[in-house]
Amino acid sequence: MTDKILLTGGAGYIGAHTYVALAKAGFTPVILDNFSNADHDTPARLAQLTGKACLCHECDLLDQKALDDVFKAHDFAAVVHFAAYKAVGDSVARPQAYFNNNMGGLINLLGAMENHGVTRIVFSSSATVYGDSPVQPIPETAPLSATNPYGLSKLVGEQMLGQMQVAHPEWAISILRYFNPVGLHKSGLLRLSPENTTQPPENLMPRLLEVAHGTRKQLSVFGNDYDTPDGTGMRDYIHVEDLARGHVLALEALINTDQSHTVNLGTGRGYSVLEMIEAFAKACGRPIPYEMVPRRAGDVARCYADVTHAKEVLGFETKYGLAEMCADSWVE
Ligand code: WQD
Repeated sequence: MTDKILLTGGAGYIGAHTYVALAKAGFTPVILDNFSNADHDTPARLAQLTGKACLCHECDLLDQKALDDVFKAHDFAAVVHFAAYKAVGDSVARPQAYFNNNMGGLINLLGAMENHGVTRIVFSSSATVYGDSPVQPIPETAPLSATNPYGLSKLVGEQMLGQMQVAHPEWAISILRYFNPVGLHKSGLLRLSPENTTQPPENLMPRLLEVAHGTRKQLSVFGNDYDTPDGTGMRDYIHVEDLARGHVLALEALINTDQSHTVNLGTGRGYSVLEMIEAFAKACGRPIPYEMVPRRAGDVARCYADVTHAKEVLGFETKYGLAEMCADSWVE
């Protein structure tokens, strides 16, 4: 059986870290990326990290001919589908762009898989599909809802895959719901250059970096009146290296069992914004000034994972704690 794995969006933040983990596990990852949110020198850095040439196609999933050519050029054992826009606030401003890119891209990918007999896919989903869950920590069986166009694109993506499974019982489908990925490969080579993204970072960690670098005067803390111990939002931050390893375990489970699964990828522990500020200031050795501002629309108070199913199905457990996540996020 071929060991080639197609990584759509494989030059991006999570894609590139997963690329390294897959190569280390003995697979041959192949990148397909339009580089709308990735560095063009990432493939060279991946070749440096893995010691092997990086197979990469600059291609947009919305270009069906180019996509078909990539499937013709390789015999894939599976696809890991990262390619999508992912900024919540941006999605509220540009819903059509998110539906076109995230849903249209997946529709084309599923067609290419059918046309070329590829029957395994790992889908990059998100804890956003849980909406404002009253159940914490959140199990995979919690009710699903969408509170923004980005979350809707992930929810519909999961439902499309559910229908593909009905039509193709032989397909093995892994849905991985990420909580809050942070951190970088310890080499520092996989950091995304801010100038190379069409989507300005809205997330907490990139903004903490900006404050530490002095490119942002202070952090605006979105609300301190939530029902949490210190009033600020709590999230389940997971090191991207743990997340990447979770993808390897998911892929191996699909290949070895041909059974589909839906799994949370988180630590099972929530940290508040103030806890993150304190931990990051300690990791970078610099003060992190902040101000309290009103809540951000669409935010929830708490969101952290029930990790029992991930352990049962994949044998997945995270290795990195908060101190290491912050230390590995800090780049001078
Ligand atoms: C974390 C906490 C904010 C910025 C989003 C997506 C999710 C996934 C991860 C793609 C919250 C607070 C943030 C700031 C702040 N993305 N915050 N000031 O919103 O939990 O999740 O990113 O898969 O799908 O929804 O992440 O990093 O934006 O926010 O106070 O300048 O930090 O209110 O409590 P979020 P985040």
